[in-house]
Amino acid sequence: MRKKFIAGNWKMNTDAAEAVALVEALLEQVEQNDSADAVDIAVCPPFVYLDRVLQTLSNGPIAIGAQNVYFESNGAFTGEISVTMLNDLGCRYVILGHSERRHVIGETDALINKKLHAALGGGLEPIFCIGELLEQREAGQTEAVCERQLREGLAGVTAEQMKKITVAYEPVWAIGTGKTATSEQAQEVHAFVRGLLGKLFDAETAEIVRIQYGGSVKASNAAELMSNPDVDGVLVGGASLKADEFASIIESAKVTMQNAN
Ligand code: PGA
Repeated sequence: MRKKFIAGNWKMNTDAAEAVALVEALLEQVEQNDSADAVDIAVCPPFVYLDRVLQTLSNGPIAIGAQNVYFESNGAFTGEISVTMLNDLGCRYVILGHSERRHVIGETDALINKKLHAALGGGLEPIFCIGELLEQREAGQTEAVCERQLREGLAGVTAEQMKKITVAYEPVWAIGTGKTATSEQAQEVHAFVRGLLGKLFDAETAEIVRIQYGGSVKASNAAELMSNPDVDGVLVGGASLKADEFASIIESAKVTMQNAN
């Protein structure tokens, strides 16, 4: 069975003191509940607090991810951050293709693909986000949109590299809106994604890759979402800013794993 993977995307939130307090509180709960063996856990703070959070967590059970990265390794790219810099700090994961970067900042599939290659080349493990807009779901285009994002975002990726990627299915209409996809809607798209990974790579790779769900995940809906066979964890925005809430989502993952064994 795929180990569940819970990641917190803090987006552009917290200040330095809050960032440290949040991970300290989270670490305490994770250690108390002894959840780290059963579940992979990561938090993705804003770039400017990565160092402090890394120092607070020092190689403990909670890994760190960045929320973005640029594909060039160094040079005249004002305002950008490279894979080398993230490695220098000790980041393990990087979120790529998040809907806010696609739809607010304007990132294209081609740009996301370059970033994905740079991240993989530097040994970072991408959390690669895909998902449809509300009008696309209503027009029956959910699978077509996810397929395009996967085909174009993953172009040139080998099966070995794919095993290092987590796909996060995040329907855009569910992000930050309080509207979660139903358990059935999530499972349906996750099964579609896994089937497509089987076609793009091979059956073994499709079985190994973890697919997270994201979009208004909270302690009250996490267990049900993760009880689906193809939902291998969650990518959590708002609820990851509260240590108690995020810790109980991690607990739900642990319990779901135990029930399935
Ligand atoms: P949300 O965000 O949990 O606040 O909806 C999820 C995400 O954007 O990854």
